[in-house]
Amino acid sequence: MSKVTVVGAGNVGATCANVLAINEVANQVVLLDVKEGFSEGKALDIMQTATLLDFDSVVLGCTNDYAKTAGSDVVVITSGLPRKPGMTREELIGVNAGIVKTVTDNILKYSPNAILVIVSNPMDTMTYLTLKTAGLPKNKVIGMGGALDSARFKCYLSKALNAPANEIEGLVIGGHGDTTMIPLTRFATYKGRPVADLLDKAVLDKAVSNTMVGGATLTGLLGTSAWYAPGAAAAYLVESILRDQKKVIPCSVSLEGEYGQNDICIGVPVVIGKDGVEQILDYELNDTEKGLFEKSADAVRATNHVLKEINVL
Ligand code: 2OP
Repeated sequence: MSKVTVVGAGNVGATCANVLAINEVANQVVLLDVKEGFSEGKALDIMQTATLLDFDSVVLGCTNDYAKTAGSDVVVITSGLPRKPGMTREELIGVNAGIVKTVTDNILKYSPNAILVIVSNPMDTMTYLTLKTAGLPKNKVIGMGGALDSARFKCYLSKALNAPANEIEGLVIGGHGDTTMIPLTRFATYKGRPVADLLDKAVLDKAVSNTMVGGATLTGLLGTSAWYAPGAAAAYLVESILRDQKKVIPCSVSLEGEYGQNDICIGVPVVIGKDGVEQILDYELNDTEKGLFEKSADAVRATNHVLKEINVL
C-alpha cells in the first residue's frame, strides 16, 4: 500500500496527481489545497476518468486537512505562486518561501518519514530551505527541476534530430533558472552517438538556448507557468522512488563536496530509488562545464541568501 500526497491542486499539482493515478504509481493519492473545495473537485474529476482510462489508484481531495495526508511515503510540494509572463522564478521567493515552510511543517507532523519532492519556485532555493528547516536527512529532500529541464532538452534535441525523444539521452544540470541551467551537450547521445557529431553547432546551440528558456517560452505562450511537463516530471521522480527504479535523474540535491560544492542544493545527476537520493553521480566535467557549474552555483547561492534577508532562514 503506497500513499503519495500532492500539496497544491493547481495546474502542476493536479497534473502530477493525474499522472500518478493513470500510471497506478501509488494506491492512494491525496491532493491538498488551501482553496475551499478545489482539490476535492480536481480529485473527483480525475476519479471519473478511472473507468475510461482503466486505473484503480484512488485520488482524494481535501481542503487544508493535513490529517488526511498521514502516513504518506512521498509528498510532492507544488504550493505557491506560479510565474507570470516576464517574471523570473527567483522573483517568487518572498511569497513562496513562507508557503513552502508552512506546508512542510504541517506535512511532517503527519508523515515524518516521507520523502519530499519540491516543485515550488525558485526550486533550488525552496529545496535548500526545506533541507535546512525540515530536519530530514539529505536523501529525503529532492528538487524536481533537472528532471523537467532534461525532458525539455531531449524534446528539443529530438526535433533537431528528427528522432524519437525516447531514444535520446540528455542531462541538464545546474540551477533551474533561465540563465543557470546547463544542458550538457557533451553527454547527449542518440542511440549511443554523441549528438554533437550529428548536428550542426548552430542547431545544437539553439536546442540548448531553447531548453534554457523552456519555462519562460511557455509562460509567454500560456500566460502562466507550464504544467504538463512539470507535473509529469514530478510524477516521474515519485515513480522512481516508489518502484525503486534507481533511474538516473538530474535533481536538485544537497551537495557535500560533490562537484566542488557545499551548502547548496543544485541540479546534478542522481540515482533515485526507494530511499530517495541513493547516489550522487560525480560526472567528470571539463573546464568549460566546471566554469558554468560554478557560475550557476554562485547564482543559486545569491538567491538562497535572500532567505536570510527576509528572515525565513
Ligand atoms: C517551469 O520551468 C514551472 O519552473 C517550471 O515550467
